[in-house]
Amino acid sequence: MKALFNTLRVAVVIASALWSVAALAQAPVPQFDAATIARGKYLAAASDCMACHTAHHGQPMAGGLVMSSPVGDIVSTNITPSKQYGIGKYTAQQFSDAVRKGVRADGRMLYPAMPYTAYVKMTDADVNAMYAYFMQGVPAVDKATTETSLPFPMNVRQSMKVWNALFLDDQPLKVNPERSAQWLRGQYLAEGAAHCTTCHTPRGMLMQEDKSRHLAGAQVGPWYAPNITSHPVAGIGAWTEDEVVQYLQTGRVAGKAQAAGSMAEAISLSFSHLEPADLRAIAVYIKSLPAAVGDADQAIGASRFEQGKAGNALDKIRGVSYGENIKGANLGAQIFSANCASCHGFNGQGTKDGYYPSLFHNSATVNTSNLLATILLGVDRKTLEGHVFMPPFGDQVNAVNHLSDTEVAALANYMLAQFGPGQAAATITTKAVAEIRQGGPQSHLLMMARAGAVLGVLALALVIVFVLRRRKRAASV
Ligand code: HEC
Ligand code: HEC
Ligand code: HEC
Repeated sequence: MKALFNTLRVAVVIASALWSVAALAQAPVPQFDAATIARGKYLAAASDCMACHTAHHGQPMAGGLVMSSPVGDIVSTNITPSKQYGIGKYTAQQFSDAVRKGVRADGRMLYPAMPYTAYVKMTDADVNAMYAYFMQGVPAVDKATTETSLPFPMNVRQSMKVWNALFLDDQPLKVNPERSAQWLRGQYLAEGAAHCTTCHTPRGMLMQEDKSRHLAGAQVGPWYAPNITSHPVAGIGAWTEDEVVQYLQTGRVAGKAQAAGSMAEAISLSFSHLEPADLRAIAVYIKSLPAAVGDADQAIGASRFEQGKAGNALDKIRGVSYGENIKGANLGAQIFSANCASCHGFNGQGTKDGYYPSLFHNSATVNTSNLLATILLGVDRKTLEGHVFMPPFGDQVNAVNHLSDTEVAALANYMLAQFGPGQAAATITTKAVAEIRQGGPQSHLLMMARAGAVLGVLALALVIVFVLRRRKRAASV
């Protein structure tokens, strides 16, 4: 009897061992083919995952980039396939839910600092290809990032459910059969992966995109993402399709615009890596969109890039000391000739090859935010054409290049008068400079904080109502 029992026990052990081996063999360890991984890599570049999920000088996709906000820091997460610190344990479905619905694997909601509101337009096949790339094409980095912990009510992540219910448009793009395959490809890329709208579309009170003014321009921190609708004056209706392609590929179109700030980042890490046919498709689509007027366009009489002319005020400052000028009306001219003329020319004309651009016929010399942000933060862009760099003049107080708020205001007003729309536009105050120095007026994140506060209170109210109801019911039993 005992022997039989032992034999049975052994049999059970062997059977269960065999079963678990079989189970192991069956456990889905998906293997993706090289073509799918390569496609995923391309789509991840088109989506610019790198820009947010890589810290300055950090390892690719290992997270840790701190996006500061007035209510606290939001830290991007490690999205390498590290099982402990990254997304190594994510299934394809969980990955898709994070990228397209803003839901983490543990069921908690992501803040819309992660642009799932645009990625929601990407197809299953494309999101799965990205999954393949992240699982098998990105090296795992076993390093923790700081957990985002915002103060109440922003820490009530579930309040984002209310926000999503109100504003997340998770319907697939409507495929208009009258449009060409090229236009549809452009729509798919621009509205989805490349998420132009998250920066260029103005936002409402609760941070939702204002669909009625699609791409009509919006403040993004210290920078202003201008109107890129087809409006001939306020937008880029006067740009040729070739120019839009060239801008996305290299970040500059002589006599029109250069890319600095977050656009330079998007071009360096994302758009400059796209195939010419895809950039062309985006240009075709963008150029076809209806004209709209944005907040920054009210006073504009001519296109941003048509304003201003060469000019200088050197005659007024010759032989006058800096000390005398600091109180005088010519401070701006003095600062310009001391700090800017060496590269941009004494009359703002730039160099012939365009490496140092002309400061008139330049869309940055029209928009106050972009003019101030360029002076304070400089330009830094890397594309196949090489590295484009202008030093920042807003660095720490002790740096050689440091300009004070008073100096920057005087310089910017000088530029608006000389190279921009003219004297009447020269109304920049030191307060405006300080605001850009601190990260911009009403930055997205500040608005997000407000949205969070409102929604947090709403969520709290719901919880209270729920608890009261439960109490009542309990009392009545
Ligand atoms: C504009 C910045 C930005 C871009 C672009 C971006 N992300 Fe994110 N992502 C974030 C932030 C910030 C978080 C964390 C948000 C939070 O804590 O609520 C996040 C969270 C995530 C998470 C959840 C991770 C976790 O720890 O559970 C995944 C997965 C993710 N992102 C994948 C991607 C992929 C894939 C791409 C490109 C297709 C991408 N992200 C592009 C900012 C970004
Ligand atoms: C991360 C934010 C961001 C994203 C995403 C983004 N842009 Fe921009 N864009 C900006 C900012 C900021 C500027 C202003 C840059 C400057 O003047 O230095 C800009 C400038 C431009 C300009 C120049 C307009 C002018 O008159 O000076 C064009 C054209 C443009 N973007 C097109 C696009 C397209 C098309 C997409 C999507 C494929 C896109 N952008 C995505 C932030 C963004
Ligand atoms: C060392 C050379 C150098 C100096 C000095 C310099 N710049 Fe620049 N500037 C550049 C380069 C390079 C670019 C970017 C060209 C490009 O994007 O293709 C640029 C771009 C600009 C732009 C356009 C930015 C945009 O987003 O479109 C403005 C405006 C500007 N500079 C103003 C100034 C002012 C004002 C000063 C003086 C405080 C100054 N620059 C000093 C090299 C310089």
